[in-house]
Amino acid sequence: MMNGAFQGKNFISIDQFTRADIDTLLDLALTMELAVIEKNVPQLMQGKVFKAVMFEDSTRTAGSFITAALRLGALVHQPNLGASSMSKGESAVETVRSFAGQADGLVIRHSNETFMDDVASRIKIPFLNGGNGRLEHPTQTFIDLYTLKKLYGRLDGLKLAIAGDVANYRSARSLLMAASHYKMDIVIASPDFGCMPANIINLALSRGTKVTETTDLRPLLKEPRAVYMCRQFKEYGSEEANRRTTQAYIDNGYIISPETMKDTHADVRIMHPLPHGHEISEDFYTDPRAVYFEQEDNGVPVRMSCLALQHAQDQLQLSANTQKNLRLRDELVAA
Ligand code: NCD
Repeated sequence: MMNGAFQGKNFISIDQFTRADIDTLLDLALTMELAVIEKNVPQLMQGKVFKAVMFEDSTRTAGSFITAALRLGALVHQPNLGASSMSKGESAVETVRSFAGQADGLVIRHSNETFMDDVASRIKIPFLNGGNGRLEHPTQTFIDLYTLKKLYGRLDGLKLAIAGDVANYRSARSLLMAASHYKMDIVIASPDFGCMPANIINLALSRGTKVTETTDLRPLLKEPRAVYMCRQFKEYGSEEANRRTTQAYIDNGYIISPETMKDTHADVRIMHPLPHGHEISEDFYTDPRAVYFEQEDNGVPVRMSCLALQHAQDQLQLSANTQKNLRLRDELVAA
């Protein structure tokens, strides 16, 4: 658990973060966003080396962590794992151990759900989980909550749907775990046969969050609600299962396009951790209800906040201007 003390700790599961920890991290992300605009980013990682060690492909997570670390003054490196000694039979854990000996911090992505725990027992520098199989993607969740907070000015009591291939979607799981701190009204909408694991739903229920499950997405698009769309995870299914899920997306209204969104509510907001597949048509981005590219752009300030807390919590000092902006925001939200 963080319990307010982030420095030097690994960020592995969203459940290490209390509600107060999440609020601290999101506030600091706003500070970082303003600091970038003010061209006044504190160089909290100056002299440190940060590596992005991604055993699964990544565009946003690798790119935004690298940018965040650069903005904070670190030297960064993304090893080319395709040209590593893994081709000679070296294990992934020992490969990480090797990079850890050359750096001060890492973000790691791996398809194995226990990989982060294996690494934690082998390396001495702090790292962040950039996605472990179907299990978790905690820093994506901070981006998702930050996006919601910017959209609505609050997190408590929001209406949220998590929709799509939720059974396979690590960012959906982490989001439900964290959103349950804010007692949102959450609908899990799954077009197919896979559902959110019961233990995660039970965790949310035990925190007093309302969680219901449904198959048809269309009625939810008629309400003012943030809808967190999830890609169909074709990596995990057989060809036959994938064909069935693709059809189930179509049959149950999980296709977001200018056409399908014509008679839906003006206050729906469509989120997506990206990359999207056939569930969102590429020409929908001009619709004001599409917020997934803003969500994507929130990746850098949110990951700056993660890195600043992990590497330099003891050095955090907000500029007077930033403090003023935070106060103004709080007054606006309270009004
Ligand atoms: C996701 C991931 O890799 O978990 N992307 C992301 O990090 N923003 C989602 C995906 O691969 O579909």
